[in-house]
Amino acid sequence: MKKVGVAILGLGVVGGGTYRILTEHREFYQTTQSLDINVECVLEQNEERLKELGVPEELVAHNIAEVACNPDVNIVVECIGGVSVARDYVLDVLYGGKTVVTSNKELIAKYYHELERTAKRHSAGLYFEASCVGGVPIIRTLLDGVQSNKIVSMMGIINGTTNFILTKMTEEGTSYAEALQEAQKLGYAEADPDADVEGFDAAYKLSVLSSLAFHTKIPYTKVLREGITGITPEDISHGKALGYRLKLLAISKQSEEGIEVRVHPAFVKKDHPLASVSGSYNAVFLTGDSLGDLMLYGKGAGDLPTGSAVVSDILYAASRTEPRYSTFKNNANPEKEIKFVSDFASSYYMRLSVNDRTGVLSKIAAIFGKNNISILELLQTPDAEGATLVLVTHETHEAAIKNAVAKLNASDIAKVEAVLRVVS
Ligand code: HSE
Repeated sequence: MKKVGVAILGLGVVGGGTYRILTEHREFYQTTQSLDINVECVLEQNEERLKELGVPEELVAHNIAEVACNPDVNIVVECIGGVSVARDYVLDVLYGGKTVVTSNKELIAKYYHELERTAKRHSAGLYFEASCVGGVPIIRTLLDGVQSNKIVSMMGIINGTTNFILTKMTEEGTSYAEALQEAQKLGYAEADPDADVEGFDAAYKLSVLSSLAFHTKIPYTKVLREGITGITPEDISHGKALGYRLKLLAISKQSEEGIEVRVHPAFVKKDHPLASVSGSYNAVFLTGDSLGDLMLYGKGAGDLPTGSAVVSDILYAASRTEPRYSTFKNNANPEKEIKFVSDFASSYYMRLSVNDRTGVLSKIAAIFGKNNISILELLQTPDAEGATLVLVTHETHEAAIKNAVAKLNASDIAKVEAVLRVVS
């Protein structure tokens, strides 16, 4: 039986889940995969955590050199998070020819190509299934399951924390702050919650997934990113009244015009399959040119679900004779060799405060008309100062909406209070 020694760097949520799976399933992998996967050492300073997980003292390494130089370690799992220490440690072990499995999306989004170059140079593997969409095997699906396709588009809910927050706000009317606190308690949120709520986490994942889907390096800096901090219960509730649910969506498309990559809140119709993806669950819709539509659904965060993805990578790496590397069409100059589409098509939700007097609606309609925007749905609620107008447009373009918003705000008839995209 093939013996494989594993080291785990960081025993937080994901590292701890990985440790538990590896120790509890050791016999199972011996029987089903003919692999004897043994945790040789861990790098973790928190003694309480070591005790909680029942890690024997002799397995605790004291520095990265002890891990990098341990001849019994073949695979190093990085679950430290962040990029400074994690990047240095990963490079240290790759230089020594050890394979790295990481759950760190920020690290992969920012340093994928440098790390892969180093891995190649030292004949080491670099695997990162757990970096995107927790326990959902999206990377393996892109690389193996649908590799016969040209991927046309992806649309998904790929951040558990924001989905948990938006679901709680929608279903229970919970405040944003309360919902965020609960997500942190459950271990979904990143140490710095801005990474989740401002959309960075989803943007990192979308850049990695789109790069693999389109065989094109897509820098995360090119992802249009908007978070959920400005979302009000008022808009969630108006959307609900119109039959929509609000989600933080990650969308990428490839067409003759170019590549579109964006993360932002958007309304989806309540009968859309993504509308029922709730709590910390994630889902990704893929459209392939031969396959058509495929949806993957599962837990996008948490210790055992994400640990499951880490361990799958360990088993995958352990059973290969040669490491697997990626191929990209735009190796030389990722920023310049791709055309990005920013004036994309979408429908829009808009909430306006208006003066409730004769002719106001026709003036608003005229501004929309001049920008070639057609209104699909309209709701008006009178209030003390005038009225609140909520509308949804037919499909139009970003530039047209921005122009209409500027014209409305410059007029004395209406103030645009909120604009959200709607998946048509
Ligand atoms: N903070 C991340 C999320 C964890 O909420 O999805 C998994 O990447």
